[in-house]
Amino acid sequence: MSTNSYVVEARDLAKTYTLGKRDIPALRAIDLALPPGEFTVLLGPSGAGKTTTLNLMGCLDRATAGSLPVAGQMITGNGVRTGEARLDALRREHIGFVFADFHLLPTLTATENVQVPLIWSDRIDRQRARDLLCRVGLGHRLTHRPDELSGGEMQRVALARALVNRPSLLLADEPTANLDTRTRDEIFDLLRELSGEGLTVLLATHDHELAERGDTVLRLRGGVIVSD
Ligand SMILES: Nc1ncnc2c1ncn2[C@@H]1O[C@H](COP(=O)(O)OP(=O)(O)O)[C@@H](O)[C@H]1O
Ligand SMILES: [Mg+2]
Repeated sequence: MSTNSYVVEARDLAKTYTLGKRDIPALRAIDLALPPGEFTVLLGPSGAGKTTTLNLMGCLDRATAGSLPVAGQMITGNGVRTGEARLDALRREHIGFVFADFHLLPTLTATENVQVPLIWSDRIDRQRARDLLCRVGLGHRLTHRPDELSGGEMQRVALARALVNRPSLLLADEPTANLDTRTRDEIFDLLRELSGEGLTVLLATHDHELAERGDTVLRLRGGVIVSD
């Protein structure tokens, strides 16, 4: 497998947490390749290692072993240990995140929340934030604050924020876990649409029904990818 044909290509990726004197193997040598524009679902029960996987792919945490090129750059493996500043830059330029609990800043409006990732790059662009909010169906909620929005609307704001730096990869960690079924489907359909427009998506969920709608489903159990 060439590192150029995948947005992310993990090989033998492992993560062991240490709690006091105890080692907790959260991921045990998984292989995972994300082709550009594909919608991949990482399905597994609580504790399977989904968040750990997304955090490694998103350069939020460091692997214990294995190789992991992100956006063509080897960030771990072959003796490589990428520095914090480079990891920050990779994350900013290539990765968008959405989480179950939205992570919006409560005192900021929707438009301001979407602009937050731009602060680090001195490129405040209110119009881009507005355009993205319109793209996710929130053109009528530009100046609302999180406590004036529904769960589905908050996740749309979070999604617009995740897209503001034009990421090549969107990592969605249980993005519909706090939403009712109808809103879950709306957010999922929106993610599918974005993937259809070329965005590579890796969505972690414990929801089997949702998983069936991905292009590819990877089943994770006890830190191992299992076949069906
Ligand atoms: N920071 C941490 N320190 C120690 N153990 C952790 C930490 N984060 C996760 N774990 C453990 O790693 C395993 C995988 O966790 P996680 O990746 O959060 O799974 P999931 O997202 O599928 O629920 C679990 O056993 C969890 O308790
Ligand atoms: Mg998790």
